[in-house]
Amino acid sequence: MSGGAPGGFPADFSALEAEMAAVAARVEDCLDQVLPQPQGPEAPLAEAMRYATLGGGKRLRPFLLLETGRLFGAPENWLVRAGAAVECVHCYSLVHDDLPCMDDDALRRGRPATHVAFGEAVAVLAGDALLTLAFDLLASEECHRDALVRVRLVSALSRAAGAGGMVGGQMIDMALEGTAPARAEVARLQTLKTGALLGFCTEAGALIGGAGGEAARALSAFARDLGLVYQIADDLLDAEGSAAEMGKAARKDAARGKPSLLMGRSPAEARAEARALGDAAARQLDLFGERAKLLKDLARYALDRRR
Ligand code: IPE
Ligand code: IPE
Ligand code: MG
Ligand code: MG
Repeated sequence: MSGGAPGGFPADFSALEAEMAAVAARVEDCLDQVLPQPQGPEAPLAEAMRYATLGGGKRLRPFLLLETGRLFGAPENWLVRAGAAVECVHCYSLVHDDLPCMDDDALRRGRPATHVAFGEAVAVLAGDALLTLAFDLLASEECHRDALVRVRLVSALSRAAGAGGMVGGQMIDMALEGTAPARAEVARLQTLKTGALLGFCTEAGALIGGAGGEAARALSAFARDLGLVYQIADDLLDAEGSAAEMGKAARKDAARGKPSLLMGRSPAEARAEARALGDAAARQLDLFGERAKLLKDLARYALDRRR
């Protein structure tokens, strides 16, 4: 069922994938420079931070941030730095999410999860240090010359990652385990858990590019819908995908009674809803014309991806 496009032709993501790979390489270079080097008795901390951050990943969030900033002509080096910051938060969330006290997953990005490779205590500390590094990156002049913009970036990331955003979503994810929540409740959970950080990416791209008003609002609506599409795809992959392709365990959600957007409907129905949501998300960007082509492609790729 993947790869479908209007008219029945397979979707062509080659331009998108090439640009995502180019962004990933630049962000990984930046991460490599800013992450601590292992030395002294704290060496395992730096090793675990590097392991969790540099080992694979689609770098969707930095890509979203960069493509948004590019719409407004923002300097690339500032965007790359902010992209590295959001990836630090994302990687920290994965390290903690995989811990035995949370999802208890041993495989991540095709390798042993960080706590399997380094032990739980080091994994907790590596996650903590990645989170705080993110704010340091945003607060530096290499992210924006204007201190007020830097404060706004720090504040936006705090809100997106914290109790009213990603971490709040993680709490609801656990609280609803084993229950039969209404779909609206699951959608709220996913919007916080996944959508909030994607929302930060468009917000940051717009802030660094000096944009506001209608343009910023359209991008934020796009990010919210993209988060839901991305999460429906994650739930579908969990139900139908393979661990070999995804680099993480499959069939976990049903086994653990995880709240999922597949609850109460068939995969085909969920896919159709996500397709409609992705199309609606893409239409939010019509005001940018052809310049937003890759972002629009991303709304469809989010669903058709295999990992
Ligand atoms: C996994 O995120 C967790 C979700 C929010 C669905 P990604 O699918 O972006 O994971 P990586 O970064 O590519 O490994
Ligand atoms: C990962 O969420 C962590 C966050 C989104 C904060 P999930 O538990 O839903 O994703 P996977 O399946 O482990 O990647
Ligand atoms: Mg989880
Ligand atoms: Mg998980």
